[in-house]
Amino acid sequence: MSSTSGSPSTPSPAVEARGDGSAPPSVRTEDLWKTYGEGETAVHAVQRVSITIERGEFVVLSGPSGSGKTTLVNLIGGLTDPSRGKVWVAGEEVGAMSERARARMRLEHIGFVFQAFNLLPVLSALENAEFPLMLRGVDRDTRRAAVRELFEEIGLGGLEDRRPGALSGGQQQRVAVARAVLGAPALVLADEPTANLDTSASDALLGVMELLNQERHVTFIFCTHDPFVMRRARRIIRLVDGHVERDAEKEPGDLPSWVLEPVGT
Ligand SMILES: Nc1ncnc2c1ncn2[C@@H]1O[C@H](COP(=O)(O)OP(=O)(O)OP(=O)(O)O)[C@@H](O)[C@H]1O
Ligand SMILES: [Mg+2]
Repeated sequence: MSSTSGSPSTPSPAVEARGDGSAPPSVRTEDLWKTYGEGETAVHAVQRVSITIERGEFVVLSGPSGSGKTTLVNLIGGLTDPSRGKVWVAGEEVGAMSERARARMRLEHIGFVFQAFNLLPVLSALENAEFPLMLRGVDRDTRRAAVRELFEEIGLGGLEDRRPGALSGGQQQRVAVARAVLGAPALVLADEPTANLDTSASDALLGVMELLNQERHVTFIFCTHDPFVMRRARRIIRLVDGHVERDAEKEPGDLPSWVLEPVGT
């Protein structure tokens, strides 16, 4: 892959290191809980989660279906309020922010890729992808050049003018990933980003993400069941019943057997 040189060449201020050289962790949680329902029927979707993820990490959240992965990334992104505990993103406590400040944090600091892609149906693929750049005031030619270059790299070349309804699930997913990374966020939260993709498209997307991770120190947190993604991560946090069962660093390329073990073994 050439590079993302067509993307805005200056990272957003949110991506730059702080002047004093002491960058806060990208994400920190302290005794985080999310409980749905009450009493006997209460479900602790997330419980007792205290984790620190440094700037520039490439982390997979794994665990069985229902183990709390989506809930945890929604808590980190300030889309869900915790029942108990705190979340900091880039050193700022999310629960203490006003709605407006949270919205600004999401726009300037976080790229989201959801299980449901949340593309705007009336906009073309290109317009969807360039949306965060437009909100930030990047000029039209720069935006469009960045989108076209990335689309070419991830197999969306020629589909710029299609609306989401005329794209396959996998193509829509790639548009959503393009939108998330083009804004040059400091943190990308991705929920099953490769779920509908074949191996070559997954490979291309992960390549783009690894490049951003290495060159711009973008932090990536992925929820996934996909061994292909897990293999490329450098840290795996495995959730079971909402709590962290295991949290370990690994070499890219390795796939430790415990990530795939069924619960209770
Ligand atoms: N809005 C809600 N109301 C009630 N229970 C919920 C709600 N959202 C999630 N849950 C429950 O919380 C638990 C964790 O769900 P979550 O979606 O975080 O799991 P997950 O690990 O992302 O699963 P999957 O791999 O299937 O996407 C599940 O038991 C789920 O049923
Ligand atoms: Mg989920």
